[in-house]
Amino acid sequence: MSAFTAVDVIRAKRDGGVLSDAQIDWVVDAYTKGLVADEQMSALAMAILLRGMTGPEIALWTAAMIASGERLDLSPVARPTVDKHSTGGVGDKITLPLTPLVAACGAAVPQLSGRGLGHTGGTLDKLESIPGWRAALSNDEFIAQLRDVGAVICAAGEGLAPADRKLYALRDVTGTVEAIPLIASSIMSKKIAEGTGALVLDVKVGSGAFMKSVDDARELARTMVELGGAHGVKTVALLTDMSTPLGRAVGNAVEVTESVEVLAGGGPADVVELTLALAREMLDAAGLPDADPAAALRDGRAMDAWRRMIRAQGGDPDAPMATANEVEVVCAAEDGYVAGVDAYAIGVAAWRLGAGRARKEDPVSIPAGVLLHKRPGDRVRVGEPLYELRAEHAVRIPPALAEAERAVRIAPDEPAARPLVIERIG
Ligand code: URA
Repeated sequence: MSAFTAVDVIRAKRDGGVLSDAQIDWVVDAYTKGLVADEQMSALAMAILLRGMTGPEIALWTAAMIASGERLDLSPVARPTVDKHSTGGVGDKITLPLTPLVAACGAAVPQLSGRGLGHTGGTLDKLESIPGWRAALSNDEFIAQLRDVGAVICAAGEGLAPADRKLYALRDVTGTVEAIPLIASSIMSKKIAEGTGALVLDVKVGSGAFMKSVDDARELARTMVELGGAHGVKTVALLTDMSTPLGRAVGNAVEVTESVEVLAGGGPADVVELTLALAREMLDAAGLPDADPAAALRDGRAMDAWRRMIRAQGGDPDAPMATANEVEVVCAAEDGYVAGVDAYAIGVAAWRLGAGRARKEDPVSIPAGVLLHKRPGDRVRVGEPLYELRAEHAVRIPPALAEAERAVRIAPDEPAARPLVIERIG
C-alpha cells in the first residue's frame, strides 16, 4: 500500500503547494508503471502548467524521469562527448552539418534525435531522404559508431527516460506541452540519460518556435542549464532568432541538400554562422577550445566525417535526392526589399506541401518543401522569383500557397538586420 494517492498529489499542486521529494519520486514511478492513470497525470500536468514548480521540484522531477529508464555509459568512446539540442524551428537543419563538423574537430557527438510533428521538421525525417540511411541503432551499434566515427545521429531507444515518452504523448493531447518545468525536464532527462559529457542548447525564440518571447526562452534556458549542471553535464545555452526560417530550404530532401552545401564550404550565411557558433560552444564545453571549426569546413574534414557518418548507417552520400513532380515558382509583384519571412507561416506551408505530419503515425514526403529565393533584407524587383513550393501532388500547392503568401512581406525600405544569436546563458 503506497503512502500517497494521485489525488493528494494533484490537489497539492492544484492549490499551489510544493511537492515533496517522495511525492515526486512516487508519482513519476507509479505513472510509468501504469499505477497512476492518464487522466490523473493530465490533471497534474495542467496543475504544473498553471502553478509552476520550484527549482528543487524540477530537479527532482528530472531525476525521477532519468531513473525511469537506463543511463548510457559512453566511457568506451575515449573522446570527450558533447551534444546539441535545439528546441525546434523552421528550416533548422543545423544538426546535420554540426554533428560531423564537431566530430571532425576531435569530439564525439551522440545525437539522439526525433521526428517532426506539426510545423517543425524532424532531423530523422530529413536524414531518411538519403537512400538506405537507417535511424534505428542498438545501444551497442550507437556506442561503436561513436567510438569509430565520432558522429551519430539516430533515434532514441525505448529504454531512455520511458516516463518522458509516456508523459510527452499525454501532454501533446492535453494542452500541457508549454509548461516550462515540463519542457525543461523532458529535454534534459533524455540528454542526461544519453550519457553525454557536455551539452549545448539552441533555444529558439520567435514565431516559428515554442517560445515566442525572449523572457520565456531565457527562463527555459536557465532552467535547463541548471539541470545539466546539477547532473554533472556542462551545459550552455544560446538563445537564437526563429522569427524567420533558417537558410533557404524548408523540408526534408531540400534541407539535406542545403546542409551538404554548408559542408562543402558554401551554403546560406545564417546557417553557416549558427553552425559555427554552436560548434565553438560545443568544442569549448568538450574541453577543446583550440579547435578551429571554420577550418574544418573549409578543408573538407567536416565533409569527410559526414560521408563516414552517413555510410555507417547504410546511407549512400552520393545518391541523388528525390525530386518533386510539382514545382510552383512565385514571383514578386512589386519592387522593394524583403522586409520579413514569417517562420511559422513557412513552416505551415511546408507541412501542407507534405513535408511534415499531423499525427505521429503519418508518413512524410521526401521531396516536398519550400525554397526561398529571397531572404529578409534582399532587394527584389517585379517578376523576380521570391520562393518556390515543391510537392508530390498538385492538390498540395494551393493551401501551401495561401500560407506562403501571408509569410513574405515586401516593403520599400531596407529592413534593419536582426541578430541571429540573441544571448548566451551558461
Ligand atoms: N521537446 C521535448 O523533448 N520535450 C518537450 O517537452 C518539448 C520539446
